[in-house]
Amino acid sequence: MWKGRFQQETAPAVQRFTESISFDWRLYKFDIQGSIAHASALGKAGLLAPEELQQIECGLKEIEQEIDEGRFPFRIDLEDVHMNIESALTSRIGAAGAKLHAGRSRNDQVALDLRLYLRHETDQIRARIAGLQRALIGLAEKYRETILPGYTHLQRAQPVLFPHHLLAYVEMLERDRERLADARKRINRMPLGSGAIAGSTIPLDREYVAALLGFPEVTRNSMDAVSDRDFVAEFLFGLALAGMHLSRLSEDLVLFASSEFRFVKISDRYTTGSSLMPQKKNPDVCELTRGKTGRFIGNLVSLLTTLKGLPMTYNRDLQEDKEAVFDSIDQIKLVLEVYTGMIPEIEVDSRRTSEAANDSGLLATDLADYLVLHGLPFRQAHEVIGKLVTYSLEQRRGFVDLSLEELRRFSEKFGPDLFTVLNLDRAIDHRTATGAPSRKNVAAALEAWNAILRERP
Ligand code: ARG
Repeated sequence: MWKGRFQQETAPAVQRFTESISFDWRLYKFDIQGSIAHASALGKAGLLAPEELQQIECGLKEIEQEIDEGRFPFRIDLEDVHMNIESALTSRIGAAGAKLHAGRSRNDQVALDLRLYLRHETDQIRARIAGLQRALIGLAEKYRETILPGYTHLQRAQPVLFPHHLLAYVEMLERDRERLADARKRINRMPLGSGAIAGSTIPLDREYVAALLGFPEVTRNSMDAVSDRDFVAEFLFGLALAGMHLSRLSEDLVLFASSEFRFVKISDRYTTGSSLMPQKKNPDVCELTRGKTGRFIGNLVSLLTTLKGLPMTYNRDLQEDKEAVFDSIDQIKLVLEVYTGMIPEIEVDSRRTSEAANDSGLLATDLADYLVLHGLPFRQAHEVIGKLVTYSLEQRRGFVDLSLEELRRFSEKFGPDLFTVLNLDRAIDHRTATGAPSRKNVAAALEAWNAILRERP
């Protein structure tokens, strides 16, 4: 492509070193879409005749089909997807193909391709996140009544409904969707016409190209447009955070599926056995998901590190953005797919969870609240109940097994109505503040989520 200026061929090792076709071929559909729009702008500027435009479009569509069918011979001596496609076009249609690159550089071309690609993938990933939200809601509905201990510091804290626990993840995933939608706004700007760095002397109608490609706006500074990868970093951050959420869900499942907890069973289809120990059923899907989070974070850090020392504007370093992006996209889609399949097949052992929730210690705070409602300052109530907890542990008897006389030794304020406080169902249902896990709140949340998710593609 640049033979005019060079007297020697590129060294073979340099060809292998600089090529990106082995991975950026994946951008081909967007490269072709972008080239067709650029050709239209050249046509509008009077630089391509209608027949030439037609030839370019047909040629590019033919190439697209060959790539779709795996029949297109990619060449590493042609470096990247942009030059492979342009060169094939010119060898097919001749003169018209050779006119296509006027007013364009690979610098604005690759920025465009990446934006089109990420816009597409953002939509795909957001839809998959919604799919997983649906699966979580389905499981929550199946176990509407299941109570389990909520944990802080991995110590039993207070009772919650299992759906409330799951809905926490639905909220996290919702923020992931919002974050990607927000990143999409900045992905969705059209860079073509920025040229290599300083635009072009060819009169290209950038707004026209933007409209053809469905962009609501064009980038505003040509130097920024060819060097900007903020939109990629934001996107990778969005995936890293979503990956982190899925990693935490994985950790919950690994714990809950362990013999020590036995709260849940993950189906055979989503667990693996041991080659040695016949009794094993391992939560590998969860563990791999937790493990892949390292990759998501690594890919983000890799891009930020690549960007941090770059002088303006385009530098070849930027080619290193792609493998990180492809990897994060492939992996998050896989994780979302397998999780969406696995969640509905989870069985919850509601007997085990309610046994664990029947630990009367879980109601210690409610007892302190009882004293507060009977006029004791909270700090005093906390101390009284602390002593009571120690006593009940020494006695190996739960609060319900203590007599009123025994209890009154700790505080005069205890009366017979106290025993209603020590009821798990009541304890759940009195948590009525917005966002707290009363049955009524949780039912309303499930209904609201169902309505939202029904509307989503
Ligand atoms: N393959 C290159 C990349 O991914 C395309 C842009 C190359 N531009 C250049 N001036 N060498 O960034």
